[in-house]
Parts: sequence; C-alpha cells; structure tokens
Amino acid sequence: MKPTNAPKTYRVKSFGCQMNVYDGERMAELLAEKGITPAPEGEDADLVVLNTCHIREKAAEKVYSDIGRISKAGEEAGKKPLIAVAGCVAQAEGEEIMARAPAVSMVVGPQAYHHLPDMLDKAVRGERATDTDMPANAKFAELPQRRKSAPSAFLTIQEGCDKFCTYCVVPYTRGAEISRPFAELVEEAKKLVAAGAKEITLLGQNVSAWSGEDHVGHRVGLAGLVAELAKDPDLARIRYTTSHPADMDEDIIEAHGSIAKLMPYLHLPVQSGNDRVLKAMNRSHTAESYLKLLERFRAARPDLALSGDFIVGFPGETEAEFKDTLKIVEQVRYAAAFSFKYSPRPGTPAATMGDQIAPEVMDDRLQRLQAALRRDQMAFNEASVDKTCQVLVERRGKKPGQWLGKSPWLQSVWFEGDANIGDLVEAELLEAGQNSLAGRLV
Ligand code: 5AD
Ligand code: SF4
Repeated sequence: MKPTNAPKTYRVKSFGCQMNVYDGERMAELLAEKGITPAPEGEDADLVVLNTCHIREKAAEKVYSDIGRISKAGEEAGKKPLIAVAGCVAQAEGEEIMARAPAVSMVVGPQAYHHLPDMLDKAVRGERATDTDMPANAKFAELPQRRKSAPSAFLTIQEGCDKFCTYCVVPYTRGAEISRPFAELVEEAKKLVAAGAKEITLLGQNVSAWSGEDHVGHRVGLAGLVAELAKDPDLARIRYTTSHPADMDEDIIEAHGSIAKLMPYLHLPVQSGNDRVLKAMNRSHTAESYLKLLERFRAARPDLALSGDFIVGFPGETEAEFKDTLKIVEQVRYAAAFSFKYSPRPGTPAATMGDQIAPEVMDDRLQRLQAALRRDQMAFNEASVDKTCQVLVERRGKKPGQWLGKSPWLQSVWFEGDANIGDLVEAELLEAGQNSLAGRLV
C-alpha cells in the first residue's frame, strides 16, 4: 500500500448489539484524541471504521459489499479513504478480510481496539496491520477519559461468554467471560455522570455473570454493583443487559424491589419455549424454570416490563415445538422482544446438526411469532395509558417544540413543551402506538 495523508475526518459505523455501540463510541473517542473529527453528515470520511457483527446472517458478505461501496465512493471523489474493519467479523475472519480486501488497511478485534491509533499511524505510512489478540481487560486502562455523554450512557462491565449455546458465535468471537473490576467501573460511572449521563445501562454478553470485589474486599455480584452506583445522587437511572436465566440470583431479584433507581425492565432471553429445543441449544433452563424465575422477579417488582430474545427454526424444530414458543409468549406477555430466524454460524455445534429447517418454514414461523409479540407490545403500551411517569428526555422530536424520551419501562415517549435534553420530566401518557406513546407534561 502507498502512504497516504493523515485522515482529518472519520466515521464509525457500528452494527449489531449495544456492546458494539459502546465499542464504537470508545473508538470514536480514541480518534478524537488524535485530532480527527467526525465527518459531517452526507460527506465521505477520510477514515471509515466498520464495527461489524457476526451473530446472524451474511454478516461477512455485508462487510465486503460495504468495503466495495466505500472505496468506490472514494474513487469517485478522487480520494482513497482508509478503511478499518473492527468488531466480531474482524475477530472471526481477520486473515481472510486482509487477503480478500486490499482496500482494508486495519483489522482490529473487540479486545484490541485500543491499538487503533498505532495501527492508524502505520496505515498512513502504507503498512497494513491486523490485531485480533484477546488480552483480558487490557484495553480499558488505555482508553481515553470519558468527556461528553448523552443522557443515557452505556458502560461495559463484562465481556465474553462461557455459556456456549450451540447456535452462538459469541464465545468464539468475544472470548471467555471476564468482569471489569468494581473500582474501575465505579470510577467510569462517576466520569459518565460528570460528563452528563443521567442513566447508565450496564452492558455485557452476560452481565448476570459479573462479579468483583467491593471497596472492603467483599465478593459482590451484579446487585452489589448496582447498589453502589445507585449511591451517586446525580445518577437517576440504572439498567443492565443482557442476562442469562441460569445466573440470576436472589440478590438481583431483591434489588429490583429495593433499589428505586434500578428501572422496572428486564431483558431475559428465553430463545425457545420447548424443552427439547432448549436442551439442544444448551440453554440450561426449561420453559418452566424460566417462568418460575419471572414469577419471582414480578413478585419483587410487580410493574416489571419483560423483554426477550427468540430463535425460530433451530435445527430439528418441529411445528409442535415451535408452538411451545408461541405458548410461552402467551404466558409471559412481553413488553418488547427480539426474534430471529436461526442462522448457522461457522464453527458452532448447531451449524452441523442434521435437519436444518427450510427457509420458508422459518419465514412462516417468524411471522407468526412476531405477530404475537407485536400484539403483546401494543397491549403493554395501551395498558400504560393514563399512567403518569418520569421521562428522561433524550432528543428533540421532528416537529418544533417536540421532545422524545424514555419511560421507566423503556418505551419511547413523545411530548411537546418546555424541556431540555437530559431533563427528567413528569409526563402523563395519553395515547399508545406500536413503538411509542404520546404524552403530556404535568
Ligand atoms: N441465529 C439466530 N439468532 C441468533 N442469536 C444468537 N445467535 C444466533 C444465530 N446463530 C440471537 C439470540 C441472542 C441474540 C443476541 O441473537 O436470540 O439472544
Ligand atoms: Fe451466545 Fe448463549 Fe452466551 Fe448469549 S448466553 S452470548 S446466546 S452463548
């Protein structure tokens, strides 16, 4: 590769989960430290970071077509943008990307992106670099301080997963479960609050497996961390995601009853409502043990909104087994949910299982499941009408004088009137839609 001019502008494109959104923000901060600024909307950037997701579908193919599009747009504008591929596709297929896509000069995995500035210096000199090492927790100490935050901020507390669900690529791309230390998290939370955060969402592939040592050397779990963060008078709300049913303990259930700042929302993936499928998925819970667990959460916090993840068409899933998933949806009545067609991931056990389900069967099951989930989401929103609740104002709406924020149950709420981004306002919920509610300031 030929040397190029140092980039002046960047764009970070993040795909997939909230962990990637967090990583994308941290990469943007690293680039800002080097004096590179975000490319204005609609303009080509000198440096593009594709922060990729490998969890489903043809993720890698999408990366190659993005790379093609970016270099073509650059050519047309007479520039040669630097391209970095980050995230889980980089981790899983780094070597191949380097071989197949000469336009890419940097490939950097999710545990190595603190090296991005050095790699960038090399790229400017015309050297290509790959870094997909996985040193535990190394990057966090080397990332810049958090200076500016949106009202709702993410904080990664845990990375990786040891659960090895048979369909999932995460244990391979993100590695083994590691918890960031308690003191470091308390410190970063303080900085986020000082930088403007009113709400912090604790992130991890499996946050319920987080553990650490508190200030006096006691072992604490997620509930202990939440309790510590809740002491900050300037932090109004705490959320966490994603958790695994097997790791939810009595402490976190109790925390939902006793810590007012812990929002009444729980994202707890079930994946399937059928015990044979759950076993084949290596999920370690049954439909019944999952429902029992939810009962305990609801006893602690009766207004808890529930959310879940679902996979339809796992290898061997019969129509009757799929109906068990519809049945558990009927029983739980989720406020929100994410549902996917099973997608074979190279290297995972399920990818080579017999009896892969035909695409049209998966399409049909997904449609039926999503219809049920939409019905329940609408019902949940309708049941919120006439309630008065706090709304955290996150941004302006499309019309002048209109604002958009989030209810405690993570619903989007629109209202008009006097407010500022970052305010916690009292609003009466007036009208329900599928994905948002209209409200009025009180
Ligand atoms: N196919 C379809 N969905 C998947 N998920 C994870 N792996 C796969 C796969 N191979 C879904 C699960 C998980 C969510 C983040 O993505 O529902 O909870
Ligand atoms: Fe993947 Fe299962 Fe771990 Fe979630 S718990 S990241 S689905 S292996």
